Amino acid sequence: MAENLNLAILGYGKMGRTVAQLAPQRGFEVRLIMDIDANPGGAGVTPENFKGIDVCVEFTEPKAVLANIRSVAAVGCNLVVGTTGWHDRLDEARKVVESSGIGMVYAANFSIGVQLFYRLARQAAEMFAAFPTYDPYLTEAHHKFKKDAPSGTALELKRLVQPAFRDREVPVASVRAGSIPGTHELGFDSEADTVIVRHTDRSRQGFAEGALYAARWVVGKKGLFNFADILSHGGTEAQSAEGT
Ligand SMILES: NC(=O)c1ccc[n+]([C@@H]2O[C@H](COP(=O)([O-])OP(=O)(O)OC[C@H]3O[C@@H](n4cnc5c(N)ncnc54)[C@H](OP(=O)(O)O)[C@@H]3O)[C@@H](O)[C@H]2O)c1
Repeated sequence: MAENLNLAILGYGKMGRTVAQLAPQRGFEVRLIMDIDANPGGAGVTPENFKGIDVCVEFTEPKAVLANIRSVAAVGCNLVVGTTGWHDRLDEARKVVESSGIGMVYAANFSIGVQLFYRLARQAAEMFAAFPTYDPYLTEAHHKFKKDAPSGTALELKRLVQPAFRDREVPVASVRAGSIPGTHELGFDSEADTVIVRHTDRSRQGFAEGALYAARWVVGKKGLFNFADILSHGGTEAQSAEGT
């Protein structure tokens, strides 16, 4: 039986609530939850509030992330950042993490299915790039409340597939409407046919599972890690930690 860990959650929106719901089933005690009111600009992350906390999970919004990372690093707590739309400031985050000696895992997508989709996408890009009759493209669709576009997942897909096509730009199209569950497609289109690799979310639980897996993994570690790196050992460890 894995050791019980004391968890803090920053951001109590759709994802924060899903993490809070799942955490007790995955061996975490939720000791602290802070939404924007309790934590404006990261001000709620104090040594007093974080006393006894083993690890923190952050799902807030792009403009809040850097302040939260600084505050959590200042109290010496390791953390998982699930918020998207801020990765252009990754170098700043790296400096904070490395100078404070904490451990942090981040990802645009904590779903294990999406992580495997990334690997497929890279392989598919290499295969299709050898045949110039096929044009590559990416599409993504989400509910109307999602703040960033293109999604962090689409940007990561683009980063992975673009090198195979060199100077042929891989276009990315985004849709925000209604309650559409997160959907990402990598397509290859020719005059004769279309090939599509697609991932569709069924619920937010997959993200919470991955974030809690990362939270347990990062305890006792130092440095900045992407979720893809920590999963690269293969699926067995991740699946058993998720209890599935
Ligand atoms: N990596 C992944 O796997 C993954 C999966 C799903 C979503 N996401 C990302 O995670 C983020 C959150 O998604 P969501 O659907 O949960 O959004 P949401 O429902 O809008 O929740 C975000 C919450 O964070 C709060 N907040 C803002 N600033 C804060 C701060 N400084 N301290 C504490 N709380 C703060 C917001 O409060 P107010 O609304 O009152 O401002 C809101 O309650 C988004 O960036 C989304 O794209 C990532």
